[in-house]
Amino acid sequence: MSETPVRSDALVFFGATGDLAAKKIFPALQAMVRRGHLDVPVIGVAKSGWNLQRFRDHARESLAAHGGVDAPAFERLLQLLRYVDGDYHDAATFDAVKRELGKSQHPIHYLAIPQSLFSTVIEQLQRSGSATGARVILEKPFGHDLESARKLNAILRTVFDESDVFRIDHYLGKEAVQNLVVLRFANSFLEPIWNRRYVESVQITMAEEFGIRGRGSFYDQTGAVRDVIQNHLLQVVGCLAIEPPATTYHEAVRDELVKVFRQIRPLGPDSLVRGQFRGYTREPGVAPDSKVETFAAVRLEVDSWRWDGVPFLIRAGKRLPLTATEVAVKLKRPPVTHLPAGEGNYFRFELSPEVRIVLGIRLKKPGEVLASEPSELSFLHCPTRDELGDYERLLGDAMVGDPILFARQDAVEAAWKIVEPVLGNVTPVEMYDPGTWGPASAGKLAEPVGGWTAVTSGR
Ligand code: BG6
Repeated sequence: MSETPVRSDALVFFGATGDLAAKKIFPALQAMVRRGHLDVPVIGVAKSGWNLQRFRDHARESLAAHGGVDAPAFERLLQLLRYVDGDYHDAATFDAVKRELGKSQHPIHYLAIPQSLFSTVIEQLQRSGSATGARVILEKPFGHDLESARKLNAILRTVFDESDVFRIDHYLGKEAVQNLVVLRFANSFLEPIWNRRYVESVQITMAEEFGIRGRGSFYDQTGAVRDVIQNHLLQVVGCLAIEPPATTYHEAVRDELVKVFRQIRPLGPDSLVRGQFRGYTREPGVAPDSKVETFAAVRLEVDSWRWDGVPFLIRAGKRLPLTATEVAVKLKRPPVTHLPAGEGNYFRFELSPEVRIVLGIRLKKPGEVLASEPSELSFLHCPTRDELGDYERLLGDAMVGDPILFARQDAVEAAWKIVEPVLGNVTPVEMYDPGTWGPASAGKLAEPVGGWTAVTSGR
C-alpha cells in the first residue's frame, strides 16, 4: 500500500473483450456503479479491432447475458467507459492508455489476460509511465509452477510494491468461503470438536456440469490442478484448517493460511487421480493428443497438531453430472452405538450454487423402539440483490488498497509447492464419460474414507 492508502482514480482492464470480462467484470462494474462505489474512468484494453461504441455495445450484451442490465446503473457505467484497441506487445497501445488516463495519479491496472502476457504488460506499463503511483490486479493462476510464480513476482516487484499488488483468487471474495472462517470461530460449540479427535475426514467437491466453454487454448495450458486446485480449493482447505487468527492485526488470517499451506505435504503420484472427459480433445484450441486433465482428485494431509491423520480429499472436474461446490466434514461416530461413520454426524457446507449449511444428526425414530434415524438441520442463506458479489468485493477492495482477500506471494508459493510434484503427466490421465463423476480410480482414492459423499445440491 502507498503510505496512506488512496482510492484508485482510474481502472484500466486488460482483456476487456474476453470471457472473464463478459461474465464477471462487467457485472461487478455495474454493481459497483449502482452502489455508488465506482465513479472513475474505466478503460478497457483489448485487441479486437473495436471502437468505443462497439465496446459499449459489448458491455450491454455481456450484462444482458450475465445477470441483467440495470438501466440507470448501466447508463452511468457507459459514461465511465473508455476503450483502447491494440496489441500488448506494441508500445503505441500503452501510450494510448497513458493518454486515456489523462490526469489520473493512481490508476489500478487489472490484468484479466493470459498470464503469459503479464510480464510484457507490466514492462510496458512501466515504460509508458502508467505504473507510477499505480496498483495492479492479476488474475489467477499466478504462475504456471513454483519457478514461474517466483519469476513473475520478481518482475512485478521491480515495478510495484507488494502492497500495490493484488493477486486474485475469487474464492476468497465469496461470502460462503469467508463464512467458513466466521462459522468456525464465532461458534463455541464448534471449537472443541474441530480437530482430529472428532473429525474423521474432510471432502471438497467442485463439480461443473459444463465443459471448457470455448476456453480451450487457456484450459489446455492449465488443467484442473492449476486451474482450481492450486488456488480456489486449497484456499477452501485453508479456511477449514486454519488456527484461530489473532484479532489484533490485519494480516492475521493471511498468516494463518500460509501456515496451513506449509503444513501440507507435497502431493505424490499416489495421491492424485487425473481424468479427461471424452470429447475434450475435439474442443477448439485443444491439442488433439492432449493429456491435460479436466478432472482431478487429490488426497492430502495437514501435518499439524490439530489435523494429524485426518484425510482431506478434493475433487474437481468439468462435464460432471451437476454444478455444485460442497464441503463434507465427517465426524467420528459416537462410541458404543456402532453406527456407520457418516450416517449422521457430519457437516455439509454447500458453497454454490446455493449457500447452505447442513448438520447431519441422528434423532429418535418415532415408535416403540429406542432407535435412531438420520436427519438434517439445515440453514439456507438467501442472497439479496444487494449482496456483494465476489468480483465486486475484490475490485472494490483493491481500489482502496485493502489486500486481505487477495493471495499473498508466500501463500501462492506454498500452494505451488504442494502441487508441484504432480504437475504435468506424472500420472496417467484416465478417460471418463461426460455426465459421470470422473474416472473409476477417483472412487478408489476415497475408499479408505468410505467413498465420496454424494453431492446433493447443484443444478
Ligand atoms: C475459474 C476457473 O477460476 O473458476 C474456471 O478458471 C471455473 O474453470 C471457475 O469454472 C469457477 O468459479 P465459480 O465462481 O463459478 O465457482
